[in-house]
Amino acid sequence: MLFYSDNTAPVHPKVMEAIRAADAVDFAYDADALSQALDARFSEWFEREVAVIWMSTGTAANALALSLYCPPYGGILTHDNAHVVVDECGAVELQTGGARLLGCPASGGTLNPSALRTRIDSLGKGVHHTRPFAVSLTNATEYGRVYTRAQLEDIGTLCRTEGLALHVDGARFANALAHQNCAPAELSWRAGVDVLSLGFTKNGAMNAEAVILFDPARADEARRRRKRAGHLLSKGRYIAAQLHAMLEDDLWLANARKANAAAAALVPAVGDRLLHPVEANELFLSLSADEMAHLRAQGFGFHELESGVARFVTSWHQEVADVAPLASALAAL
Ligand SMILES: Cc1ncc(COP(=O)(O)O)c(C=O)c1O
Repeated sequence: MLFYSDNTAPVHPKVMEAIRAADAVDFAYDADALSQALDARFSEWFEREVAVIWMSTGTAANALALSLYCPPYGGILTHDNAHVVVDECGAVELQTGGARLLGCPASGGTLNPSALRTRIDSLGKGVHHTRPFAVSLTNATEYGRVYTRAQLEDIGTLCRTEGLALHVDGARFANALAHQNCAPAELSWRAGVDVLSLGFTKNGAMNAEAVILFDPARADEARRRRKRAGHLLSKGRYIAAQLHAMLEDDLWLANARKANAAAAALVPAVGDRLLHPVEANELFLSLSADEMAHLRAQGFGFHELESGVARFVTSWHQEVADVAPLASALAAL
């Protein structure tokens, strides 16, 4: 049973159906009817006008989003273990033309105004030094924590005071919304977010992500940058179809609730091994090498993030009953 990542889950049947339904002769690139309808569909979802740039990977979405807000000589404040820092092979640096990522320590991957303020104050202000232009945070975080609207608002206020743009890596945005039980607007523009990388691949899509621009005037630049980066797919309608399918009848929410519930169901089995509160669909556990080997021998797959720390990720494809064998195995350690 695989708990490596929510990407191990298959494509949701309703997404497959939508891909099949889109499988017809239509215009190329994003001139098809499904792509053309995205701005209106997501403007309704976010309760304000947005521009939607479909993407096929979260890495490309983050790099494109940040390249719109940070020049080559600028810096992007983020946390030390952010996906953009450790898992994207320098994509943000490439697409911004050389901007620096300025990491801050952040427990649970959760930034706060005081950590950001300390990092800003540590930077020299002269022409020799990197000037920050943006903050990038991840919600849900790389450690499965979820920012509240109030936490985001505090960071949004700091960003406005400092003239910084606020970007959210929302590879698990749906899991965050499901945990907070709130509308998409609450964890985005109403809290001061300028641009969102919205991920659906982990939550049931095949390969569908989007950059959501809360300032639609940036759309033309974003579309040209996407093309120049080689990410304007000629058959983009298959991505657009997935994005529509994820919003239809709130599939995104049903899927995220399932993934979160499966993670929550494991918590009673793990006792004080738990390293971070479980708020989305990830568990981080303190396990010895022998314990990890014992679990692997029983067929459970998971990542060892660092020595003694194991990560388990649940997905939309797992019911609470499906994760019961792992709960028993953990409880028996
Ligand atoms: C926090 C976070 N951001 C972004 C991504 C997107 O990555 P990819 O480029 O593999 O779609 C991931 C995927 O693991 C992630 O966990």
